[in-house]
Amino acid sequence: MKNSKLLFAGIFCLLSLSISAQKLNAIYPGAILPDDTGIHVNAHGGGILYHDGKYYLFGEHKGEKSSAAFVGVTCYSSEDFYNWINEGVALSVSDDPKSDIVSGSVIERPKVIYNEKTKKFVMYFHLELKDHGYEAARVAIAVSDNITGPYKYLKSYRPNAGYYPLNMTDVQKNATAKLSDFKDWWTPEWRQATIDGMFTRRDLAGGQMSRDMTLYVDDDGKAYHIYSSEENLTLQLAELSDDYLSHTGKYIRIAPAGHNEAPAIFKKDGTYFMITSGCTGWAPNAARLFSADNIWGPWTEHPNPAVGEGADLTFNSQSTFIQPVIGKKEAFIFMADRWTPKHPIDARYIWLPIQFENGLPVLKWLDKWDLSIFEN
Ligand code: GAL
Repeated sequence: MKNSKLLFAGIFCLLSLSISAQKLNAIYPGAILPDDTGIHVNAHGGGILYHDGKYYLFGEHKGEKSSAAFVGVTCYSSEDFYNWINEGVALSVSDDPKSDIVSGSVIERPKVIYNEKTKKFVMYFHLELKDHGYEAARVAIAVSDNITGPYKYLKSYRPNAGYYPLNMTDVQKNATAKLSDFKDWWTPEWRQATIDGMFTRRDLAGGQMSRDMTLYVDDDGKAYHIYSSEENLTLQLAELSDDYLSHTGKYIRIAPAGHNEAPAIFKKDGTYFMITSGCTGWAPNAARLFSADNIWGPWTEHPNPAVGEGADLTFNSQSTFIQPVIGKKEAFIFMADRWTPKHPIDARYIWLPIQFENGLPVLKWLDKWDLSIFEN
């Protein structure tokens, strides 16, 4: 009996070793994604920076029971997008109770970009202050000389305080409707007031709310921050300063009162595409698609880019990032999270190729795929 137990344990060890050492040659959406030690990658709500021949994935470290930040932002690297090496913690939470990023705060959707001029890696993320739910609605900025970190926390704030969006009309700027005029939300009058910038005006002095977010660096090196603002009712797209460390005050509103979260953006043949989700917390909903010829808009909404079974819930996931495949022309990977709020660490990665039909991005479910799909 004892011997057979030992034998069983031995076989188990060998098996787990061989699993961790196994080289992957495909993407398996929704499956466990083992890192180089065989442990499920812990970098949720993440984004990618391609640098010096490698993809670097940055994401939220999640715990067994809590989604709050007790570790920080993690980093993984990969040369092929299939096999990921754990590069450790890029930005650590602080143990100083006075720090914005004290252990137990909420650090979500980190994204890292590289500034060619300053040679710095710049990280933005959505920050919520410890014990204050989701009311802070701030963007936070950290910086590092090395891609994998350690990143130094700089500051957090609500962006563009004192500036009106470029696409707000004078009538909207001078309108007087305010939240206290409305007994109920979601009435047609409330919706119109929201479209007309009631929340933008409310937050003018203190800065615009900033929750779900992404970053985008255009071909000319200009960087943009795209975020759910105005109580998650309206997206905003804002220009960053040349060093990427602040906002310039130039921004637009996109899809006012459209209730979009989880923005992910890419550019193909000169057209900007953005995939977002609706607002249902950790529960999935149908993806939305927008396009624009100019990053400053106008942005046009299209039908759900997901098609086939499960499309109405984006295959049980929520967008986080879209990564161009390096070395392939106009090839893009849609990256999304299948959240598991009762066991946050187990959330799965739904990475799918973006296909194009009639000039528009299309997402189709695949159990298994590899980058050769882009050669067809
Ligand atoms: C989602 C959002 C996530 C997280 C979650 C909290 O809608 O996309 O990043 O904030 O809500 O409930």
